[in-house]
This record gives sequence, structure tokens and C-alpha cells, in this order.
Amino acid sequence: MKNKRVPTFISGFDDLIQGGLSERSVNLVIGGAGTGKTIFAIQFLVNGIKNLGETGVYITFEERKDKLYSDMLSFGWDLEKYEKQGKFIFIQYNPEQVKKMLIEGGGVIEGIITKTKVKRLVIDSITSFALLYKDALIRKEAALSLFELINDWGCTAVLTAQHPSNGEIFSTTLEFEVDSIIRFYNPKMEGVRKRAFEIIKMRGTKHPLKTMTMGITDNGIEFIPAKIIKC
Ligand SMILES: Nc1ncnc2c1ncn2[C@@H]1O[C@H](COP(=O)(O)OP(=O)(O)OP(=O)(O)O)[C@@H](O)[C@H]1O
Ligand SMILES: [Mg+2]
Repeated sequence: MKNKRVPTFISGFDDLIQGGLSERSVNLVIGGAGTGKTIFAIQFLVNGIKNLGETGVYITFEERKDKLYSDMLSFGWDLEKYEKQGKFIFIQYNPEQVKKMLIEGGGVIEGIITKTKVKRLVIDSITSFALLYKDALIRKEAALSLFELINDWGCTAVLTAQHPSNGEIFSTTLEFEVDSIIRFYNPKMEGVRKRAFEIIKMRGTKHPLKTMTMGITDNGIEFIPAKIIKC
């Protein structure tokens, strides 16, 4: 059976990945500070609400709700309004609570997700969660049980992770478990930083291997695949 696609509706992106993210996949967006991970994740949820009326859940360990809501208003995304309509759910969780949720096999979050038929899920970011587990094998097991839960819930997920701008090694050690890795970074070229992105892997999907240009405008993120970055 062909993979069903979940469009991001983010300009220039879905055409690169055969129409969208795979349904029920776990997608990791990695990048350094200020590269656009949170904006991408929120845009994925907001576009689902606007275009398909799909409910989205945003789980965060780091972002403050009032600050996030006011930052996102600058792109015209009224999260408070969507929250009142029951279409956007903000959950502040600390990594310890996520750990507990895994042990309980769902807990409070599962209740919210199954009751409201959530289709799109974001965890921003997964870095502090990964730091909870010092042992690589246990971390891998914990990540796999989290991904299994997400899969049982029927959600398509975007997880963000901090990743230093230099170096090829990922600090998250989740790269083998996730279905896709999208990387944002800002290489410096002749004294000016550019916004670049690449799709490092995406299971079951034909995708370009180029490093391409992206931008952040008043409407959010836009991808410009025709502009290749040579670095
Ligand atoms: N209205 C805007 N127009 C253009 N660029 C903007 C606008 N608002 C924010 N930005 C850019 O987006 C960046 C913030 O993006 P975002 O919060 O998604 O980054 P992040 O990758 O989540 O960072 P962190 O790792 O710190 O959480 C800002 O540093 C700025 O460069
Ligand atoms: Mg962020």
C-alpha cells in the first residue's frame, strides 16, 4: 500500500517530498539556535488547522506560552484563538513527566490526544528529554517507546532537536530511530549568514540530497529549493 501523505502546506516543501510527510511518521527537525525549528513546527500545526481543520498538540519543555503566542502572532498565527476553538493544545511538560508518561504508557497526554482526535503532534524540543538518559541503550529504548506511543495515537509528529551548526555528528543519537531528518543551518558565506536546509533522510520517500535555501518572512518559513547552497 502506498504511503499516505500529510501535507505541511509550507511553501516549497511538499513538492520535494512526494506531497508531504508520511502519515504517522516521526520527523526530526535539527538545527542550531535561531535556525527556525520552532517556527517550522508551529507552522506545520497551524497549516493543519487552517487547511484541514485538524487539531494539533504542541508539547514543549522550554518555550514559555505567552512568549511563544506573541512571537507567533507576528506571522499572523493566532494560537490563542485556535486554543479557544479547541484546535491548538499547548502542553508544558518537563522531561521527568515525559519519562513518567512512558512508564505509565501514555498518561495525561494520551487522554488529551485520543479524546480530541489529534492528527499533528509537535515536541519542541526533544534535546532535554534525550539528556535524561545517560546510557545510550536506555536512551534508545526510551525513544523507541515514545515513538511507539506516537504511532499508537495515530499522529504524525515533528520533533525538534538542537544541533550545533558545525560538524556532521548529531547530538541527539535518535537519528537511526526517526523516520526522517530535516536539517536547518546558517552557513556563513563571505561574511553573511544564509538560511540553508537539507533533507538528510526520509524513509519511503524520494527526496533531493542538495543543500537548499530557505527564508523566514512575515508569513513564516518558505523553502526555495531552486537556490542551491554550495558549501
Ligand atoms: N518576522 C520575522 N521575519 C523574519 N525572520 C524572523 C521573524 N521572526 C523571527 N525570525 C527569525 O527566526 C528566528 C527564530 O526562529 P525559531 O524560534 O524558530 O528558532 P529555533 O531554531 O527554534 O531556535 P532555538 O533553538 O533557540 O529554539 C529568529 O532568530 C529570527 O532570525
Ligand atoms: Mg525553538
